[in-house]
Amino acid sequence: LGKEILALDSTPSTQKEAHRLAQEPFKEGTIVIAEEQTAGRGRMTRAWHSPKYTGIWMSVLLRPSLPPYKAPQFTLITAVAIVEAIMEVTGLQPEIKWPNDILLNGKKITGILTELQADADQIHSIIIGIGINVNQKEFPDELKEIATSLAIEKGEAVSRSQLVQEILKKLEGYYEEYMKEGFANIKKCWEKYALSIGKKITARTVTGTLHGKALGITEEGVLKLLDEEGTIHDIYSADIEIDKK
Ligand code: BTN
Repeated sequence: LGKEILALDSTPSTQKEAHRLAQEPFKEGTIVIAEEQTAGRGRMTRAWHSPKYTGIWMSVLLRPSLPPYKAPQFTLITAVAIVEAIMEVTGLQPEIKWPNDILLNGKKITGILTELQADADQIHSIIIGIGINVNQKEFPDELKEIATSLAIEKGEAVSRSQLVQEILKKLEGYYEEYMKEGFANIKKCWEKYALSIGKKITARTVTGTLHGKALGITEEGVLKLLDEEGTIHDIYSADIEIDKK
């Protein structure tokens, strides 16, 4: 990964730029990375705060020969790669919050946004958007309670280039493993880093709120939740919270 890199000073969104690149023939593993995004996008049409020189704002383009329903697995593969890269570079121990957040001390340091160009039975390209808060010293008021950076948690600046290199190395390794051997081992790593598994959680979905124990994820990245009546629910999309005792 990263043999072809489009490095930008400022861009509305690396994700938007990557979607444009994906329309043309591109090299597998092409990266779009920017110092600043003026219109960074998060999940569910949220904005993603991406100030200059402080974070890692990048999109990775892949072209796996797979059906589109496999795409959510790429979010999980990416999360495992990022957690391990952060551990290695900073010594901090982040946790994964299903489906795509990485937290430190309960606050968000990383968001992952996996998007596709595909037809009904074949992926044409997968675009994995990665946003990591690295060296911010403070956040705007509306984010203060929910977001943090690696520098705030570690108490010193962290090298963005070292972290990018480590993420790409890990992601490449897991991507190769996944294409050769499938998802089983990566799923195990994911569950090890996801502290919500085995705990009581609240899941807010578009159709309502569910309470219960998070049992684990399926091969497709679907969250299994056991409610108080003993019914198991499949959760495809939600915001989850670990219940306080
Ligand atoms: C989320 O948690 O909602 C996902 C956030 C994803 C942010 C990254 S930053 C690089 C890429 N470009 C974007 O506009 N968004 C993603």
